[in-house]
Amino acid sequence: MIYQNVKKSRILSGIAPSGDGTLHIGNYLGAVKQFKEFAKNNECFLFIADLHALTTIQDRAILQKNTETLILNELALLGDLTNITFFRQSDVPMHTELQSILNNVTPLGLLRRAHAYKDKLEKDLPEEEINLGLFNYPILMAADILLYKPNFVPVGKDQKQHVEICRDIAERFNKTFKKKVFPLPEPYIPEEVAVVMGTDGKRKMSKSLGNIISIFDEESVIRKQVMSTYTDPTRIHPTDPGHIEGNMVFSYLDFFGDKRQVDSLKEKYKKGKVSDVEVKNYLFESLMRTFKEARARYRELSANPDMVKKILKDGAQKAHEVASQTMAEVRDTTGLTNQYSFFRY
Ligand code: TYM
Repeated sequence: MIYQNVKKSRILSGIAPSGDGTLHIGNYLGAVKQFKEFAKNNECFLFIADLHALTTIQDRAILQKNTETLILNELALLGDLTNITFFRQSDVPMHTELQSILNNVTPLGLLRRAHAYKDKLEKDLPEEEINLGLFNYPILMAADILLYKPNFVPVGKDQKQHVEICRDIAERFNKTFKKKVFPLPEPYIPEEVAVVMGTDGKRKMSKSLGNIISIFDEESVIRKQVMSTYTDPTRIHPTDPGHIEGNMVFSYLDFFGDKRQVDSLKEKYKKGKVSDVEVKNYLFESLMRTFKEARARYRELSANPDMVKKILKDGAQKAHEVASQTMAEVRDTTGLTNQYSFFRY
């Protein structure tokens, strides 16, 4: 794993408060878990991409609620923030300032190829009705990343193209202004969690598809999600030999269960010596064990809004420091700064 070999890299990632702001095990495995690993040895920046959510959520109360929920979910999962600067995108206005500048080195063709925009075109909307925020989304994401000059951007596979567009935009900026202001960030996507499949076993785990296992819901909700997880449709009775491949309960157990116990359950399952319900019960217990501390922290944070505010304030302050250094360089490189300039970051 890269995060064990590379000393003191700078790592950055973001997460959007879309859906309802709650995180599921797909987000945890695909993004948060690796981030925590990175944070043991590296300088990490993690932010809530609330400006991104505006592309789809245009309701004051919903955006507020989702953002608040996501902040609590993230903080509860992260736990120790020693090497992590945690902040909210809209608290650092340099993100939109840099986006505005990067607009000018980004060709339309690059954005037309972006998945989010292409998906919308194919599924929902005629082009005239797609808002420019969604079309521009990859430029804002490039600004999010480049402001902090990270070495690695840990994301799920669905965000890989956005990081590639970011690299493209950075190269164009450097070339246009003949100065290597932006180092090119690497996406970091471990194969085993690049796409965490949903409980239906068919599609990527996603809140909007209703195929998730939640982390902070009531136990009864999580139990229900586990019990409805896709296993082996050819197995009618617990005594029938079962298949492990494509069986989502075992896929999740590989991440959350104790290896020896999971191996033994697999052997029994293949021989028809353990029921689906027993295996699912073990998955449920393993999830509760994995997230026990985070669930307790979630309750603690929910009861302490001042503590949360302080974390965000400190995070924004640190993010400001780094982002303003980059913006000073960008203003100077582009010629926005001149002999009459009075504004200085
Ligand atoms: P978002 O909020 O959709 O997802 C957050 C992170 O979770 C990953 N993820 C998954 N990984 C594996 N399997 C899944 N089923 C799964 N579902 C979600 C996503 O890949 C992502 O890493 N545009 C970004 C947020 C963003 C950002 C950035 C990320 C804004 N600016 C700058 C990195 C750097 C987004 O909407 O992710």
